[in-house]
Amino acid sequence: MPLAIITGASSGIGREFARQLRRRGVDRFWLIARRRERLEELSRELSCECEIISADLSDTAGIASVKEMLGERTPSVDYLIMAAGFGDFGAQDELTPDESARVIEVNVRALVEITNAAIPYMARGGRIIELGSASAFTPLPYFATYAASKSFVLHYSKALYYELRPKGIHVTCVCPGWVHTEFIDKATDTEGLTRPRRDRLKPLLRCEKTVRLALRASDRKKKIYVVGAFYKMQHILFKILPDGLLSRAWLSMIDKKTLKRRLEKYE
Ligand SMILES: NC(=O)c1ccc[n+]([C@@H]2O[C@H](COP(=O)([O-])OP(=O)(O)OC[C@H]3O[C@@H](n4cnc5c(N)ncnc54)[C@H](OP(=O)(O)O)[C@@H]3O)[C@@H](O)[C@H]2O)c1
Repeated sequence: MPLAIITGASSGIGREFARQLRRRGVDRFWLIARRRERLEELSRELSCECEIISADLSDTAGIASVKEMLGERTPSVDYLIMAAGFGDFGAQDELTPDESARVIEVNVRALVEITNAAIPYMARGGRIIELGSASAFTPLPYFATYAASKSFVLHYSKALYYELRPKGIHVTCVCPGWVHTEFIDKATDTEGLTRPRRDRLKPLLRCEKTVRLALRASDRKKKIYVVGAFYKMQHILFKILPDGLLSRAWLSMIDKKTLKRRLEKYE
């Protein structure tokens, strides 16, 4: 009975991984996120053996609860999907220290701690999918902590790929561009803060297709998978163009009114 452990299972990409893995014959899940009702709803939909783990991964106790469960149950893990994550737009001095720290706790610390804790329970053929982002490839002003957290995920995943390859465990860092999920609503719901115009966040990828392609990349034992032709092209440009030019292109998406108001303070 294959087992998949999925963080961020209450919404978007994580939830879609659960649905598609179920169709691939996975019949045991550990579903992890804060919103218990969402996880219960998904568990009913999957209609198989599901453990609901309602945990806040921005907090030590939440991360510990997942690690303790691994230690107590000693499961055999076939898939580990690390999809919990979020980002807040805003200038570094507009965001509270707590907001920036939570991004690092969830996107970096929880991802590393849970992945490391799960590895001993994986055997040859096991799969790990870490959710990076197209924003991992370049610095992004006004989305700085998020983009840097995803650069961390990218480098950590690549190292893990080489570390675990001799054990027959395959690690793929999936790097989508903008995907149509709650992520975008939450990231841009920062009234008064410096953020991009929502209509500029294009092209939007479909969640179902993003996950389907991500699973195919994992089947093919890809180390990194950038989702979507546009973002693949962008990835190549990121490698050859200077940061300054890329930052200017990115800043052209930032809402002009809030950016102007912000910069006026320094005139
Ligand atoms: N959508 C995009 O444009 C996009 C692009 C590139 C990469 N990504 C990455 O893809 C991953 C999934 O994002 P998504 O698009 O599916 O966003 P989403 O729909 O907002 O889902 C995010 C998931 O993370 C969980 N989560 C957030 N904070 C948490 C916390 N403190 N503790 C536990 N769980 C937490 C949420 O669950 P609860 O709220 O119930 O806790 C939810 O299940 C993220 O790592 C994101 O950075 C997204």
